[in-house]
Amino acid sequence: MLYLLFFVVVKECFAIITHLNDTEYRRMPPLFELDDYGTCLRKSNSLYCLARLDLFADSPNDLVTMIKEYSEYTERHYNHSYIERGVCVAKQCQKYINNTNSNTLNGGLEACLNQTIWNKYGLQAKLAHIFYCNQKDEIIEYDWSDWLFGGILVVLVSINIIGSCCDFMLEKYFHNKERDKYINGICNIILCFSLRRNWECLSSIKVKDSRLARLKGLHGLRALISFFIPLAHVMWLIGTGFTDNPQEFEKGSESSHYQLIFNGMMIVQIFFVMSGFLMVYNLEILSETVPITWSMWPTIFINRFWRLTPANALVILFTATWLRYLGSGPLWKLYVSGVVSDCRQYWWAHIFYINNYVPDDKACAVHTWHLATDMQLFVLGSIVYIATKSRERGFVISLLLLFSMAAPALHVWFQDLDALVLLKPEFYRSFWNDTYRYLHVFGHNNLSCFIIGMVTGYFAYNWQKNRVEVFKHKIWQYLTWCVIPGIVGLIFTGSVFYSERRLSLVIRMTYAATHRAILGVITAFIILGLVFKIEHKQRRVLECDCWVVLSKLSYCAYLLHLNIVHILLGARTQLGHVSFFYVIINHLGILTLSYLAAIPLFLMVEIPFNRVIKTLFQDTMVTNKKKL
Ligand SMILES: *[C@@H]1O[C@H](CO)[C@@H](O)[C@H](O)[C@H]1NC(C)=O
Ligand SMILES: *[C@@H]1O[C@H](CO)[C@@H](O)[C@H](O)[C@H]1NC(C)=O
Ligand SMILES: *[C@@H]1O[C@H](CO)[C@@H](O)[C@H](O)[C@H]1NC(C)=O
Ligand SMILES: *[C@@H]1O[C@H](CO)[C@@H](O)[C@H](O)[C@H]1NC(C)=O
Repeated sequence: MLYLLFFVVVKECFAIITHLNDTEYRRMPPLFELDDYGTCLRKSNSLYCLARLDLFADSPNDLVTMIKEYSEYTERHYNHSYIERGVCVAKQCQKYINNTNSNTLNGGLEACLNQTIWNKYGLQAKLAHIFYCNQKDEIIEYDWSDWLFGGILVVLVSINIIGSCCDFMLEKYFHNKERDKYINGICNIILCFSLRRNWECLSSIKVKDSRLARLKGLHGLRALISFFIPLAHVMWLIGTGFTDNPQEFEKGSESSHYQLIFNGMMIVQIFFVMSGFLMVYNLEILSETVPITWSMWPTIFINRFWRLTPANALVILFTATWLRYLGSGPLWKLYVSGVVSDCRQYWWAHIFYINNYVPDDKACAVHTWHLATDMQLFVLGSIVYIATKSRERGFVISLLLLFSMAAPALHVWFQDLDALVLLKPEFYRSFWNDTYRYLHVFGHNNLSCFIIGMVTGYFAYNWQKNRVEVFKHKIWQYLTWCVIPGIVGLIFTGSVFYSERRLSLVIRMTYAATHRAILGVITAFIILGLVFKIEHKQRRVLECDCWVVLSKLSYCAYLLHLNIVHILLGARTQLGHVSFFYVIINHLGILTLSYLAAIPLFLMVEIPFNRVIKTLFQDTMVTNKKKL
């Protein structure tokens, strides 16, 4: 009862409608409609157009008012003031458009759709724009970039075949000693492409250094997080629109399982903690044998750049070229062509890992903002690490931590953003959200977790080296059991921002400043728990061998999964249907497909190129030592 009263009051004060019952909801024109695509284009000279219409009324109209007030609750509702239609011109609008090539198309379509809406709902419709019109038998034009991708693919496959054959011959016809004679220089590099050896890399679990072996649980952590992250993108399938029951999606954001997915976007921060941790931990171990100075920095940087770039570049090139031929349908150009054209225009931003600072790059491989951020943080972190090798480390790190908390808060203040990315229905529909673009993806706003990771790496290394027993007390064991509830609880706190009234600036700023760091501290505790074996049951789960392969494949699978989502979105010819079960099935299917596709990408691109750079560095190191 109180609940109802509350909504009545809210309705009165803000003229926002939070709920509509089914009868009233149906008074609004449906957001999406698609005429049948196949039958429409079977006729020659027929036209299928996708259009957006704005609804309005000349005289005061209670339906228009209702639509406005319902749409005003942007956190949970679509904007019902405009609707999208896929129209078979020959079927619906024959009367209005006689000649498909005429320039009366816009006017004719508007008159036609306006009449339909007017008859059914008593509203007028203005044509906002026609996205595109499809005709039968559109000619596919290949260009040089398609050939380039094909060529690269052929070269890659060839090198892999040559490398595998080379390896096979050497194995078969020579004994160990003789074989080593042949394995040098160029042959060494060709052998990096041996599928047999790379398969061993994928399936081997052993690590030589005992301290690195202590990090095995991180594989489990990475595999688990990689399992959940695509879920946010799978939600596109039901959120972007062209569904027959968008009301269900609007209701969904009230339920807790959707909230868990919506606010779950913050778990990507766990990767940043791991990244900072691994950087410092590995550098500390390396510094036992080689002094880490400025002259080492280019090597460190190139090593990392080279590790990530070949696979990334290949996937971007694929997205910019062959992706557009993988399907067709009324929505294909809407969901796929934008991605392709953005990738053609902004591929360089992705190769140099600055795409998160290019707001115009709306659609191309949006998930790789995380790679760009990670690279930027790595560059900053490694510079700080070397610069503060001998002094002022504590001071600089504290300063950076302070900055990393202040930056998101200042963004919220000056740009009037939300505390965290709210997955509003319109965000899915338009792929644009200021909080996402100006806060979430920028490198400097994600600094806090990386810094916390760096500090963790530093302490973990030193505690191990000096055999300091920090976590002896029983209380730490109990704390490890609070980690998962802690993370879930933190994720749930985000749901307070979905209220119909925007929370005050101070609350938003505080939340923006702190929630990443809190998650960072929890993650740091997980890592320390693994390294120092605080607790055994959970640790054994994360250290299971089964995670290792998945974790190694996770980078390639991550790169690939979004293209599958695009294809599924674009290839629809009917309205989709919103249901949670559908999301889960799609999630599992997309994951399976992307991990399967990741196997060849990993074996033929990621691992070989990694081994090439390792071989080259080893060679230069050997020659340097010889010179000395
Ligand atoms: C829906 O709400 C309207 C107005 O609030 C009311 O008149 C109508 O009876 C309701 N319908 C149902 C099925 O509850
Ligand atoms: C909904 O869309 C219409 C038409 O594009 C626009 O004028 C209006 O401001 C939007 N409403 C909200 C709440 O964003
Ligand atoms: C289309 O043709 C019909 C007759 O076939 C005619 O009545 C109508 O005015 C024409 N419409 C336009 C927009 O030319
Ligand atoms: C829409 O149709 C109605 C009824 O035919 C008409 O009165 C109105 O002017 C039309 N509006 C537009 C924008 O064409």
